[in-house]
Amino acid sequence: MRNVLITGVAGFIGSNLLDYLLKETDWNIDGIDNLSTGRLNNIEHVKDVRFKFINDSVMSLSSLRKYSAVFHLAALPRIQPSFELIIEHINANLICTMHLIEIMIKENHYPKLIYSSSSAIYGTPENYPTNENESAKSLSPYAYQKEEVEKYLKLLETRYPIDYVNLRYFNPYGPRSFNPENKFNAYSSVVGIFLYRKKNGMPLLVTGDGSQRRDFIHVYDVARANYMASLKKERINSSFNIGHGSTLSVIDLAKMISNEIEFIPKREGESEITYADITKAKEYLDWSPKFELVDFINDELNN
Ligand SMILES: NC(=O)c1ccc[n+]([C@@H]2O[C@H](COP(=O)([O-])OP(=O)(O)OC[C@H]3O[C@@H](n4cnc5c(N)ncnc54)[C@H](O)[C@@H]3O)[C@@H](O)[C@H]2O)c1
Repeated sequence: MRNVLITGVAGFIGSNLLDYLLKETDWNIDGIDNLSTGRLNNIEHVKDVRFKFINDSVMSLSSLRKYSAVFHLAALPRIQPSFELIIEHINANLICTMHLIEIMIKENHYPKLIYSSSSAIYGTPENYPTNENESAKSLSPYAYQKEEVEKYLKLLETRYPIDYVNLRYFNPYGPRSFNPENKFNAYSSVVGIFLYRKKNGMPLLVTGDGSQRRDFIHVYDVARANYMASLKKERINSSFNIGHGSTLSVIDLAKMISNEIEFIPKREGESEITYADITKAKEYLDWSPKFELVDFINDELNN
């Protein structure tokens, strides 16, 4: 039996990872969240005694000694707000992660760190599908903070036996992706926003002409990638794309959900196309996506 920690456990992906690990493993799971963008509602259904919730910031942690793995998801993960509240985003996205690393160094104990990185670090890449060798060209402070964490890990592993896996998520969708109470909810995943607006009788708002394309990946597949990465006994210390390996335009997505569509101005700092080459994750993590976007949308629209 393992003891593991999930940071950002009350968020969209963290709460789904919690459900996944409770179902698939016999592990004891501590989850920490300061509820800055997450919500208790996401984890209130969990009654399993193997789960303990810590309602606090990652910065309050002083020991990781009891854990064999840390799934680090806590972040302020919205591109547009990161241009305005720059210091708040640096604190949540970079400083919190370095705080975890400092604890590991101080305790000389290195649990496997499964770090939630992002395809945003590729900016608008030169190659599609994009593999992990593509150079980082971050277009926003948020993306830059993710890129910086990856660079710090690479630098620090030359001095310390840090054991990490960077998972570069493409565009996750699934249950709980849209949180109406989140102060940054206008910048949530487009699938969640579209479904929420459809269910509430509102037109879908498409930015630009909707020709931007996204590689949508179900959150259960993202959770399983975290799990598979945590099982690796050896130090991998590398980055993996976690996407579906296909791409769909936002306008085509909108048409799958509703006939009522309105267009709003394009936003700067966002990639034109995301399209993952997932060969590396298939080979090294024994992972490949199992879910299809069309099935999720049909389920949501019919229930
Ligand atoms: N959802 C996406 O589209 C996407 C894409 C690529 C990468 N990611 C990454 O995946 C991770 C999870 O994203 P998400 O979509 O679930 O976002 P989310 O906002 O739903 O979850 C993040 C959670 O972290 C918590 N948090 C923030 N700062 C904290 C702190 N200092 N201490 C403790 N908790 C803190 C928030 O309250 C929230 O519950 C993030 O690292 C994000 O950058 C997400």
